[in-house]
Amino acid sequence: MASFLKLRWISKSFSTLSSTPLRICVVGSGPAGFYTAEKLLKAHGSVDVDIIDRLPTPFGLVRSGVAPDHPETKIVINQFSRVAQNERCSFIGNVSVGSSITLPELREMYNGVVLAYGAESDRSLGIPGEELADIYAAREFVWWYNGHPDCRNLAPDLKSSDTAVILGQGNVALDVARILLRPTAELARTDIASHALAALEESTIRKVYLVGRRGPVQAACTAKELREILGIKDLVIHIKQADLVTTPADEIEMKNNRIRRRVYELLSKAVTAGHASVPGQRELHFVFFHKPDRFLESDDRSGRLGSVRLEKTTLKGDESMKQVAVGTGVYKDISCGLALKSIGYKSVAIDGLPFDNYKGIVPNLGGRVLANASLGDMQYETGLYVCGWLKRGPTGIIATNLYCAEETIACVSEDINKGVLSSKSVKPGRKGMLELLDSRNTRVVPFDAWEKIDLEEKRLGNLKNKPREKLATREELLKIAGK
Ligand SMILES: Cc1cc2nc3c(=O)[nH]c(=O)nc-3n(C[C@H](O)[C@H](O)[C@H](O)COP(=O)(O)OP(=O)(O)OC[C@H]3O[C@@H](n4cnc5c(N)ncnc54)[C@H](O)[C@@H]3O)c2cc1C
Ligand SMILES: NC(=O)c1ccc[n+]([C@@H]2O[C@H](COP(=O)([O-])OP(=O)(O)OC[C@H]3O[C@@H](n4cnc5c(N)ncnc54)[C@H](OP(=O)(O)O)[C@@H]3O)[C@@H](O)[C@H]2O)c1
Repeated sequence: MASFLKLRWISKSFSTLSSTPLRICVVGSGPAGFYTAEKLLKAHGSVDVDIIDRLPTPFGLVRSGVAPDHPETKIVINQFSRVAQNERCSFIGNVSVGSSITLPELREMYNGVVLAYGAESDRSLGIPGEELADIYAAREFVWWYNGHPDCRNLAPDLKSSDTAVILGQGNVALDVARILLRPTAELARTDIASHALAALEESTIRKVYLVGRRGPVQAACTAKELREILGIKDLVIHIKQADLVTTPADEIEMKNNRIRRRVYELLSKAVTAGHASVPGQRELHFVFFHKPDRFLESDDRSGRLGSVRLEKTTLKGDESMKQVAVGTGVYKDISCGLALKSIGYKSVAIDGLPFDNYKGIVPNLGGRVLANASLGDMQYETGLYVCGWLKRGPTGIIATNLYCAEETIACVSEDINKGVLSSKSVKPGRKGMLELLDSRNTRVVPFDAWEKIDLEEKRLGNLKNKPREKLATREELLKIAGK
């Protein structure tokens, strides 16, 4: 089977050999990778594109990040699938750059490489107690409920406490809070991973604290997502009236930014001063002007989380949009059995790639990778480009990556037109890469093998009245893929 597929791919490569296409490899099959491939194929009739991904499944965070109760957001997968089905494009899954194949090897095999492998690590708080059990990065929790194979066995304990603390107030924080608080009967109709649904059904968590180091005007979420969580059935919202008092700098921020004003207005409307909640009812507490100071162990000294200590903050800096949180030396503890750090993702470096550790991105100018940016040197790595969260940092919605891809592809096109990238330099491309991977016994997953996984997940989902039942281990995925 594997060799049959390989032969088909190889013949696909040979069929265009007479006109010798320019061979470009895109690393990462999230929105940045697919938009890059789409733009490249459209702009250049003589370019072949291979998209590789470390997972056997494509689509990056559209599959493993976007919340299960947001099916409409995932419709973009149809557009990406059409790109993968293009004659001049191939998806090659289960290939990790940095381990299955090195970046220098990849650059040898292709005329150009566009890196779009996202941000798969986390910013850290750097505070005491961060190593205790029951503390997770939001990324891990999201991967767990979305069936990402790397977090299949996370098993967060949702049964030992009634309280979870989420640090950060961006849209990811809102996603994880919603998943913890939403009635599970509603989640059961989504593509949430079955192991997560089962754990949430047994969850004793009733109170979720969403902690922001700044105020309601600076909350990093957007209005649509905030409205959605505020609208959860029977959820009691707690916001302190005193936190809604604004300063002249806040007013300037809101005047300059419509989203900030909408978020502030929604929070103001949701204030429920002195609300008496019924026992067992679910509660969402917005905690503003507090920053995490340390995690404290539970009283039995079992290495497990007991509480989160927060320090009250005040905002400094008059300039609009530049107010920063400063500690006041006043502390309070929130007892909890689960803490999720939702303070932002971070990209990881791979061998042979210039990397800005401080910013957590690949140094680049408009998408061209810079060889040694730390020395202020503007020398480019020939034929190496970057796109998406790896290029800009971990912010922006799916569509942001479309504009990002346009910018990167403008650089690629310029280099093609100037002859910097030329098919005169004949590269082995897909054929060479597949031979190398085969020699290393890498079980590659082409797009039609993914389509088998897709069909099987939909079939399993259908049995449970869900859009799909995700296969959440590599072994299950590879088995259904026929590998
Ligand atoms: C939890 C969460 C929820 C979100 N929800 C929404 C939403 O509802 N709506 C919206 O518009 N935006 C949403 N976003 C934002 C959106 O998902 C991102 O803007 C977008 O996915 C970033 O695209 P990317 O291609 O740069 O990275 P990713 O989507 O992360 O894709 C990176 C890909 O690279 C692969 N990869 C990683 N390392 C390697 C390697 N070494 N070799 C090969 N492949 C590798 C990964 O497997 C992955 O497939 C959400 C983000 C998060 C974190
Ligand atoms: N439905 C959707 O459209 C959707 C869903 C999920 C994600 N996304 C997008 O994906 C991107 C990433 O989202 P995100 O929520 O991970 O990031 P984010 O929007 O950047 O939010 C990060 C949050 O963490 C806080 N924070 C950062 N460092 C901190 C620290 N040291 N201590 C305390 N708090 C800290 C930030 O506060 P400060 O503001 O004070 O720094 C902010 O509240 C965003 O662009 C988001 O819009 C979209």
